Amino acid sequence: MALPVVDREYLKEIDKARRDLRALIAFKNCAPIMLRLAWHDAGTYDKTTKTGGANGSIRNEEEYSHSCNNGLKIALDFCGWIHTSLLFSLILVSRFVQEVKVNHPKISYADLYQLAGVVAVEVTGGPTIDFVPGRKDSKVSTREGRLPDAKQGAPHLKDIFYRMGLTDQDIVALSGAHTLGRAHPERSGFEGPWTTQPLKFDNSYFLELLKGEAEGLLKLSTDKALLDDPAFRPYVELYAKDEDAFFRDYASSHKKLSELGFTPAPSGSKVKEGTILAQGAVGVAVAAAVVTLSYLYEVRKRVK
Ligand code: HEM
Repeated sequence: MALPVVDREYLKEIDKARRDLRALIAFKNCAPIMLRLAWHDAGTYDKTTKTGGANGSIRNEEEYSHSCNNGLKIALDFCGWIHTSLLFSLILVSRFVQEVKVNHPKISYADLYQLAGVVAVEVTGGPTIDFVPGRKDSKVSTREGRLPDAKQGAPHLKDIFYRMGLTDQDIVALSGAHTLGRAHPERSGFEGPWTTQPLKFDNSYFLELLKGEAEGLLKLSTDKALLDDPAFRPYVELYAKDEDAFFRDYASSHKKLSELGFTPAPSGSKVKEGTILAQGAVGVAVAAAVVTLSYLYEVRKRVK
């Protein structure tokens, strides 16, 4: 599909969509599922084949029906939009985003899903994440199996995230997103939130992880792996004691995640404005040349 043209009008639409998403997410209390939607769209990236990534392909039936995407429908029930059977999980979340898409048709789905992820973190008290628009939508979905399996450990996490081109630090910082939301037995087979305040984005995921098992709180094998692996653990300890460090690193890792498979034009809108300025400069130069030539022509005529 065509690359969106990121001109001033597109940027204005992004600003409006951001406001709409803020209002919707806050009103419907569905920040966690929105963040998960953004992650599941982007997290299919393979840096070797340059396939998958933040390309809006999660809206394709082939992809939203992957078992790892189960439950995004209940989020919609939860969001109060549509009440149907479990199967529809992800498409219904997409429909939820679709509500925003209808009002901002120019914006690509890929941009909209990532914008929703960024806004979800923001409205729950998390860090501000730099968002550069211009992602292209794809109708091609990758095969099932690119997202992590919660029953596995550190080697699996590394396989999956290294494939995306992400690092050990990214793995730990991004796992901190489980400060939001909860697992639902009917979706993933797991149950419960990771923290006592699952609608607040803070560093409590790491504090709870270090405390060990606690009644009513969830720890997946992939969460516990962060404690066991020597490359992961120092970041868990850092983020537990220093929320600012977590916010700083989370914002940077989230930006990377949200741009998998997408190469932002250097400084987004400025490219467009730069082009306009460059075109303007060329116009001025041509006009100046014409004036100068006419003047020289006149002078020559008079001299003769
Ligand atoms: C590290 C590997 C990861 C694994 C194995 C994993 C696995 C899971 C599982 C099993 C659930 C429960 C789903 C349900 O039952 O509703 C979940 C929820 C969630 N995940 Fe992850 N996840 C991982 C990484 C991430 C990342 C990188 C992000 C975002 C940057 C993220 C954001 C979320 C959120 C916000 C929820 C809560 C959704 C809700 O409340 O509906 N996860 N994850």
